[in-house]
Amino acid sequence: MGEVLLLNKTSHAKRRQLVVGNWKMNGNQHSNAELLAQIVAGWQGEHSADVVVCPPNPYLIPTYDIIAGSPVLLGAQNVSQYDVGAFTGEVSAQMLAELHCKFVIIGHNERRRLQGETDEQVAQKFMAVQRANLIPILCIGESLAQRENGWHLEVIRRQLEAVFAHVGRDVFANAVVAYEPVWAVGTGKTATPEQAQEVHRFIRSQLGGLAEEVRILYGGSVKAGNAEQLFAIPDIDGALLGGASLDAEEFLKICKAAD
Ligand code: PGA
Repeated sequence: MGEVLLLNKTSHAKRRQLVVGNWKMNGNQHSNAELLAQIVAGWQGEHSADVVVCPPNPYLIPTYDIIAGSPVLLGAQNVSQYDVGAFTGEVSAQMLAELHCKFVIIGHNERRRLQGETDEQVAQKFMAVQRANLIPILCIGESLAQRENGWHLEVIRRQLEAVFAHVGRDVFANAVVAYEPVWAVGTGKTATPEQAQEVHRFIRSQLGGLAEEVRILYGGSVKAGNAEQLFAIPDIDGALLGGASLDAEEFLKICKAAD
């Protein structure tokens, strides 16, 4: 990693590091309980980083029962853009708040790609999450083809603009951004420190007056073996994890690297 990248990590010590485990559609009651027991045992007391687990919705209550009283926080993987009504199968942000969620992942690339979620819907979800006083974790990132064509910053700009158009920039005081290059999610490929820093700096530059305050996570094949190097990058404030969040030892190593 270039020296420049390491220079001013301490200058934004005010941004609390954040590690979020997105379990996706994995686990069962038994395996979740084991995983959580180990996470809670390994993450007690005071820390300088926040740790969040996002189980599938049916496991929100049993998860909360295990993490309650520990510093581990609860999040959800998705939410409806609507507050109430005839939306079969959907879950509102208010319901998630009632179940002790603090964070909600929105705009994950699996939902954008596989469920056809649009920038517009993601913006609506962002607002719904904030209406319930929860913190949206807004995922953005380019595809491999977009990266290869050199369009990555333009894609990021468009994804952010879609949200700014509805809510402005000031509401990012209570939001988290996660940069997840689609080509790095679940593939074992990670952005180089230079690639990640370029995009994280760019995202910050789009956030106006809040540029230095908003937490910007990196996601995409983060593992215990590369976490420290990524967390040393000035504009990276933690990680959004998929695979690595399903293994307690791996997950805790990454949380400790952020701490
Ligand atoms: P991964 O997933 O860590 O398995 O690449 C990241 C994500 O989907 O948020």
